[in-house]
Amino acid sequence: MPPIASVLFGREDIRRRIEELGRAITGDYEGRAPVLVSVLKGGSVFLADLIREIRLPISIDYISISRYGAAAESMGRVRILKDLDQDVGGRDVLVVEDIVDTGLTLSYLISVLESRRPTSIEVCALLDKSVRRIAPLEIRYQGFECPDVFVVGYGLDFDERYRNLPDILAVQDISALMADPDLLVPYVLGDPEARPAEPGAGRSQNEVVGPVGEGYSRFEP
Ligand code: IMP
Ligand code: MG
Repeated sequence: MPPIASVLFGREDIRRRIEELGRAITGDYEGRAPVLVSVLKGGSVFLADLIREIRLPISIDYISISRYGAAAESMGRVRILKDLDQDVGGRDVLVVEDIVDTGLTLSYLISVLESRRPTSIEVCALLDKSVRRIAPLEIRYQGFECPDVFVVGYGLDFDERYRNLPDILAVQDISALMADPDLLVPYVLGDPEARPAEPGAGRSQNEVVGPVGEGYSRFEP
């Protein structure tokens, strides 16, 4: 049975990296009160953890956008489904994203926000799939460089599933997941046998979860 998914970034790696990002943001914005803008829905999990590592009087806001088809086809044009509640004119805006892939969606969103005349606008992205970038984009705060694989967990979904996984999984067999989108559900249910070990716990970070019997078990790489 070929592996379907493996842990790419474990919860402990994510926690540590967010601590570092929070520290950097706290230092850079000293004396200011930035508004952190999360792009729904994927960015919300990251935002929730990130703000608790920032020692500044911040505020948060959410924007929900929908693409016209695939990013490349739409050239990043988006429709705003839910706009910000706050006026970002004269504010320091930090856009918090789960993942930047082609960058088309985000660069369009930035141009929309720039038209509202904020004092500054920067991006904090947990994952940066820079090899797939089409729209040039400066990501001031980057969590991890992400390989060109489909990832789920920690806010990232496949067909609205798996956002609540505490780890970020790389999906190796995307066609298997497309054929059965619930294939990784046993992992969500928290079967201890399904949960790959924490990185640094004496096991490889890239342990694989794959279907064995009713749950998932580990494969040594
Ligand atoms: P792009 O940068 O305009 O191509 O689009 C980025 C958006 O596509 C992200 O905010 C995610 O919602 C979604 N996305 C891109 N890559 C992945 C992935 O590997 N897993 C889940 N969602 C992804
Ligand atoms: Mg997103």
